[in-house]
Amino acid sequence: MTLNLSDYLIVLSSPRSIASESFRSLRTNIQAAMGDGLKSIAVVSSWGGEGKSMVCANLAAAFAQLFFEVVLVDCDLRRPTLSRLFGYDKHRGLAENLYEGGSVEDLIVQTDVRNLSFLPSGKVQGNPADILAGNRLGAALSELASKDKFVVVDTSPLSACSDALMIGTHVGGAVMVVNPERWRGDVEIRLKASLVNHNINVLGVILNGVDANEGSYGYGYGYGYGYGYGYGQGYGQGYGQKPAKKSWSIFPWSKKSK
Ligand SMILES: Nc1ncnc2c1ncn2[C@@H]1O[C@H](COP(=O)(O)OP(=O)(O)OP(=O)(O)O)[C@@H](O)[C@H]1O
Ligand SMILES: [Mg+2]
Repeated sequence: MTLNLSDYLIVLSSPRSIASESFRSLRTNIQAAMGDGLKSIAVVSSWGGEGKSMVCANLAAAFAQLFFEVVLVDCDLRRPTLSRLFGYDKHRGLAENLYEGGSVEDLIVQTDVRNLSFLPSGKVQGNPADILAGNRLGAALSELASKDKFVVVDTSPLSACSDALMIGTHVGGAVMVVNPERWRGDVEIRLKASLVNHNINVLGVILNGVDANEGSYGYGYGYGYGYGYGYGQGYGQGYGQKPAKKSWSIFPWSKKSK
């Protein structure tokens, strides 16, 4: 499938859409949740295809619109969608930094979007978990954040590997994307608990693909679901951890609705 940057960056291509509005509101909520500690955030989810990369790119672009200097980091070393999307899938990037050390700043590229730069995934030899587990990942992410940049990190699905757990321990917070159509319940709750058990600050759950066109169903479902997940089931399961504090809905969009 050919990837198209403007299809992805809905906040730029269609700023008045309902989806863009939800990204702006997500941005505000993240700012409020993290205050001055707002330095880096990872976007995680249980399954592939739930919309992590899409949320990541749009969230990064939404922050860039506030004149934050934002670096989008493609830490999905298994399926580097964003590197392909931005046209840097053959470039050196995070992987090379993790192998070789040195400054990660040199590997950042500018994008066409104002205030938004990008760190490609680079080329992995062997298992991504091995390089993510080393101590260079933390150094790389904190180097970026220390340059007054807000760092937004894309990850691989939690059900497939523990990469996102390793990444999550090096960022200020994580948001978990959930697609209601993929929801199984037991798996998502367990994976969210494992984030919390790794001391990852789970800021909230993003319900991706809740259909705004279905009127009260869309809203009712989104709210009930998010509430049930964050406060009801998550808490009720007795993990002894704080549940996700918030849920936000990102509506699906299509070219027609732009
Ligand atoms: N709210 C939405 N409205 C319309 N299309 C969406 C929405 N969310 C995601 N998509 C589309 O769904 C597909 C999967 O999204 P994306 O690549 O962001 O998922 P992912 O979680 O990063 O998957 P992977 O784990 O495989 O990297 C993409 O084509 C994306 O454009
Ligand atoms: Mg992805």
